[in-house]
Amino acid sequence: MSFAVPQAYVELSDLATARGVPPSKYIDGLGTHQMAVAGPAEDPVTLAASAAQRLFATSGRSPSEIGLCIVGTETAVDHSKPIASYLHGLLGLPRACRVFETKHACFGGTAGLFNAIDWLAAGSARGRSALIVCTDIARYPIGSPGEPTQGGGAVAMLLSERPRLVELSPGKSGCYAQDVHDFWRPLHRKDALVDGHFSVQCYLDALSGAYEDWRRIAGDEAKRPLVRTCYHVPYGKMARKAHQRRCQLDGLDEATTEARFHTDVAPSLRLPAQVGNIYTGSLYLSLISLLHAEAAALANQHIGLFSYGSGCAAEFFTGRVTEEAAALISAMDVAAPLRTRTRLSIPEYEALRRGDADQDRRPVDKSPEASQLLREQASPHYCGIDPQERRVYAWQ
Ligand code: CAA
Repeated sequence: MSFAVPQAYVELSDLATARGVPPSKYIDGLGTHQMAVAGPAEDPVTLAASAAQRLFATSGRSPSEIGLCIVGTETAVDHSKPIASYLHGLLGLPRACRVFETKHACFGGTAGLFNAIDWLAAGSARGRSALIVCTDIARYPIGSPGEPTQGGGAVAMLLSERPRLVELSPGKSGCYAQDVHDFWRPLHRKDALVDGHFSVQCYLDALSGAYEDWRRIAGDEAKRPLVRTCYHVPYGKMARKAHQRRCQLDGLDEATTEARFHTDVAPSLRLPAQVGNIYTGSLYLSLISLLHAEAAALANQHIGLFSYGSGCAAEFFTGRVTEEAAALISAMDVAAPLRTRTRLSIPEYEALRRGDADQDRRPVDKSPEASQLLREQASPHYCGIDPQERRVYAWQ
């Protein structure tokens, strides 16, 4: 696993001051410290490519091993051409490769993951691996209650018959779905609309449904302790509420629930608190955060995973952390992308957001200055559109 984030971020204490609310509302009330903000040269394609590039560079695996590439996103850049196709080109994946995009709000990446598990279980892999990339930019209207829960980033994962980090249990996933309007993004909008408090309720209902279904399906396996659980993290407090709901279903008292939150969930919230909501990748960033914090202590232990997508769909499933995980996570330096970011002032952030609407129509700048700037970029770059409205990317 590997992740990528935009180069810039906003401190939520700065945002709170600008919006006239106490910083403690965002930091303690929502449980988030920073939110990632995408710049004009960054989009879901560049974030996906950066995450996958880092994955190959740090894991010692090669794009030539990939037989399936699925991109989960709710920030598509085209109504037809999938991000997976851009990724196929940018990474140089093999021609004999199944490539597509999946959408179901924040559940889209998990839909891709289960598709890949089925692909492996069906024997279609023939020794190859699947590349699953979750990539999104979370945007809400400026000044809306959702604004402090924005973020952006991508998580890239390799799935194979011989897992090196976490071994998932195929066929043992608890499901829940319901037709609800908790969160939506009409085709003409770049930012999402949300019925915020209702969405929290929908998330918790989906967690109860998926968890109960998992307990029914898993049988004796459900009696084995899950030492940690990673949740979908739109903001840290949501994971805390989810954990409280699960402890209620397990019949635990308040003191045990509180104590278990600090051991079982808090380590998985450290990286998400520095990035914000990354939609499809959120659960998997929380898993990276957990492995980064304590993979060695978790060797051979089972953990729970909960994926939620508005609309809504959810699954509860489990995995076993491998013995190799700690060494691999440390060798991959997974948290490196957070060390080189730039802090934005609120006027700088607002100026970027106002420019969002034009990004998809911005012509490629062919001036010598722009070309020179491009040559100096080390990461994948969105350049704009050509005269036929095709998106153009640069990769150094
Ligand atoms: N100090 C400490 N805590 C404070 C505080 C202060 N000064 N002021 C308020 N708080 C607490 C509140 O008590 C509240 O805590 P509880 O939830 O435990 O009651 C918390 O801070 C938030 O306060 P409000 O409920 O008043 O906040 P709000 O109404 O302005 O916005 C929100 C909250 C509705 C979640 C909003 O952020 C939002 O709409 N977010 C986007 C939607 C979302 O993320 N939904 C999550 C479920 S859906 C999903 O998961 C899919 C997805 O990714 C989008």
